[in-house]
Amino acid sequence: MDAAGLDSDGREFKTPEDMWREQAGDPSKKTQWYRDGVSYWEGVKANMDGVLGGFANVNEPDITCSEDFLNILFSERFHAADARHQPLVVLDCGSGIGRVTKNLLIRYFNEVDLLEPVSHFLETARETLALGCQTNSDMHKAVNFYCVPLQDFTPDTARYDVIWIQWCIGHLTDEDFVSFFKRAKVGLKPGGFFVLKENIARSGFVLDNEDRSVTRSDLYFKELFSRCGLHVYKSKDQKGFPEELFAVKMYALTTDPPKKAPRAKSKTSTNRPRTIM
Ligand SMILES: C[S@@+](CC[C@H](N)C(=O)[O-])C[C@H]1O[C@@H](n2cnc3c(N)ncnc32)[C@H](O)[C@@H]1O
Repeated sequence: MDAAGLDSDGREFKTPEDMWREQAGDPSKKTQWYRDGVSYWEGVKANMDGVLGGFANVNEPDITCSEDFLNILFSERFHAADARHQPLVVLDCGSGIGRVTKNLLIRYFNEVDLLEPVSHFLETARETLALGCQTNSDMHKAVNFYCVPLQDFTPDTARYDVIWIQWCIGHLTDEDFVSFFKRAKVGLKPGGFFVLKENIARSGFVLDNEDRSVTRSDLYFKELFSRCGLHVYKSKDQKGFPEELFAVKMYALTTDPPKKAPRAKSKTSTNRPRTIM
């Protein structure tokens, strides 16, 4: 990656490598980077407004758009017959207070594990899911609550149909991003996949000096996916968010390359006016 980036105070970095060297380039800086990230969230209230940075109103469009995406993925990759034989299991990474689990995942999966390094968030998730969640039953339940950061986590072999990672991967350095996904692949069942839902920078990256996270561009993510040996099976843009927020994208990532559809002959020339991407 050679695209330049900015920090939240407008300071420019020529490359991500320059930024990472400065922020987390030796073991003590890296320890501090992760400590600051978790400390930031430890000071945030365990409620919807807290985990959504003051934008609790995005919860509804977020869940709706994720559900549409998940439905497409389910219909293409899982078959009803498979689900009868074994429970569908998902891991909610950087789960916060269990917002995504409660509003979405627990309705689709028989077992949900939650991973969250901030203990007061995880405790809130545990309480909410134990008490108030109507869908929490013997058929659909939260099972394991891991109070661990992503960079230190290795899943059990072949436990998960889906590993859901939303609004937390920006806390990981590039190096830990790649090693997390490489380790986490073993946690997927055959045919399983990752869903990564994240803010997207227009180009390069934006470093947030306050919560110690990095917002990457689509190109930056794609370069990291290729370093992880992952393929973009499908992606979808989030709709309906306030304009002042970053764009948000969902990626379904698989370890197997997507099957190539036979090439249809096009009558139109590719050399035609197009909208600018
Ligand atoms: C913006 S909140 C999103 C929470 C949840 N995914 C949601 O969408 O409601 C970011 C979450 O990332 C968690 N987080 C911070 N550093 C992390 C790390 N190194 N590994 C995993 N999660 C982390 C925070 O504690 C916080 O719960």
